[in-house]
Amino acid sequence: MKLLLGSLLTVVTVQAHYTFPKLVVNNVAEAKDWTVTRQTKNVNTKQGIENPTVSDIRCYNSQNAASITEVPAGATIHYVSTQQINHPGPTQYYLAKVPEGKSAETWDGSGNVWFKISTTMPSVNKDKQMSWPGQNDYLTVNTTIPAATPSGEYLLRVEHIALHMAMQANKAQFYLACSQIKVTGGGNGTPGPMASFPGAYKSTDPGILVDLGKVASAGAQTYVPPGPAVWRG
Ligand SMILES: *[C@@H]1O[C@H](CO)[C@@H](O)[C@H](O)[C@H]1NC(C)=O
Repeated sequence: MKLLLGSLLTVVTVQAHYTFPKLVVNNVAEAKDWTVTRQTKNVNTKQGIENPTVSDIRCYNSQNAASITEVPAGATIHYVSTQQINHPGPTQYYLAKVPEGKSAETWDGSGNVWFKISTTMPSVNKDKQMSWPGQNDYLTVNTTIPAATPSGEYLLRVEHIALHMAMQANKAQFYLACSQIKVTGGGNGTPGPMASFPGAYKSTDPGILVDLGKVASAGAQTYVPPGPAVWRG
């Protein structure tokens, strides 16, 4: 009996991991997995990154994608997940503009170039547990590419941070992917503040090394999502 339970638990654990192989723009999904989204190293294991200071925290990609997709400024986007996103934790989206003379197909996203376009805040549910928008969905939460985003090529980074074990150092799990996009019909905003990956996060950030039970008692809105402030456009 014990053995059986053990293997059941293993199965459950594996299924709790996920990747984001498909970007959806205004309800139109990437034709095939990993077409404009860079295939991540965990394509098979689906495991998250636990140390937010390693170079994989940027895009976790094993290879670049074959294509770039056009995304109108103001578009609604989300990702399809391979499994249910069943852990508590925020979903955040970032953009980085591809420098002059480089292409989203090959640029690595290095430097102080990333700005955050959205994050999600928790609430405390009836069982007094922290819960985030999109939790238990197979799709990441929607966000809007700000209308003021200047036209041009970008890397778009999606991230879900699973915080169920985050009361221990380096036990938050980062699930993420980067897509190669071209923003069209953009505005003339000045995105910022900028951050780099790695660099944006420390293992001890209050939104990464965090006891959700304590935050729930203090009030869900006291949770501090890691990284720079959101650029509202
Ligand atoms: C997300 O955006 C799509 C349009 O791309 C829309 O059809 C869908 O209803 C939105 N989902 C939620 C949960 O708001």
